[in-house]
Amino acid sequence: MGKLDGRVIVITGAARGQGEQEARLFAAEGARVVLGDVLKEQGAALAAELGAERARFVPLDVAEEGDWAALVEAAEEAFGKIDGLVNNAGILRFNALVDTPLEEFQQVLSVNQTGCFLGIRAVAPRIAAAGGGTIVNTASYAGLTGMAFVGAYAATKHAVVGLTRVAALELAAQGIRVNAVCPGAVDTPMTNPAALDPSADPQEAARAVDELYRKLVPLGRIGRPEEVARLALFLSGEDSSYITGQPFVIDGGWLAGVSPF
Ligand SMILES: NC(=O)c1ccc[n+]([C@@H]2O[C@H](COP(=O)([O-])OP(=O)(O)OC[C@H]3O[C@@H](n4cnc5c(N)ncnc54)[C@H](O)[C@@H]3O)[C@@H](O)[C@H]2O)c1
Repeated sequence: MGKLDGRVIVITGAARGQGEQEARLFAAEGARVVLGDVLKEQGAALAAELGAERARFVPLDVAEEGDWAALVEAAEEAFGKIDGLVNNAGILRFNALVDTPLEEFQQVLSVNQTGCFLGIRAVAPRIAAAGGGTIVNTASYAGLTGMAFVGAYAATKHAVVGLTRVAALELAAQGIRVNAVCPGAVDTPMTNPAALDPSADPQEAARAVDELYRKLVPLGRIGRPEEVARLALFLSGEDSSYITGQPFVIDGGWLAGVSPF
């Protein structure tokens, strides 16, 4: 018995990183997964690896209303219903607030915040029609506290926590639970772009990441995307049946406070 047997769950940003691990874990736990991403080759390759019985890839830019309508249609055509959503797609840009171009600020907003809103708006009615289910939004540590040089990102992740609470209130009567994961630092291309850079030395980049998070994080290491996937599984399954409207921090203790030593 899998924890998600019989479920059909849409995962955005599923081509790599945390979304990929969520797709792998959810499929292993019995769900059929619909993977949406702008990275078409990687997304299609992952769906092919998981198999047509278990997975479909649908090209999706989360900021595009029309893409959401097409994804919902393709998902229901493939698997008959949708009863779960993981809003995971996101982008990060580093800049001081006073140096951030409007275009960059709006780009981060359109993916992280508008994308999450459009996902809820497109998919929640389908989950309700299927008799209820779950939505897991991906906020961040930076959705609950400030972080210098990621102003646009932090603003959107605070907004995702707000959307989560409002959606939980509005959708509870339809049997839909809505929660958020708030990861600290997780080892994906977002935190370690050198992993994608063919000219970078991967061992050197990994060493720098290790050293940084050994100092910053009480548990002494960066998180793994598989660990966030397990939290998303908990929030998508029956084990969290009485939980809705909450942000869940998964950060190795980073947000617990400051340590003088
Ligand atoms: N890695 C971290 O340390 C960390 C920490 C806190 C929160 N997060 C959040 O976790 C989520 C996943 O990030 P990740 O760490 O796996 O990073 P990642 O960059 O590896 O993955 C993000 C995925 O989202 C996809 N994506 C980007 N823009 C998109 C769009 N417009 N439409 C559809 N897909 C799009 C990318 O193609 C990619 O597959 C993001 O929301 C991110 O903000 C990450």
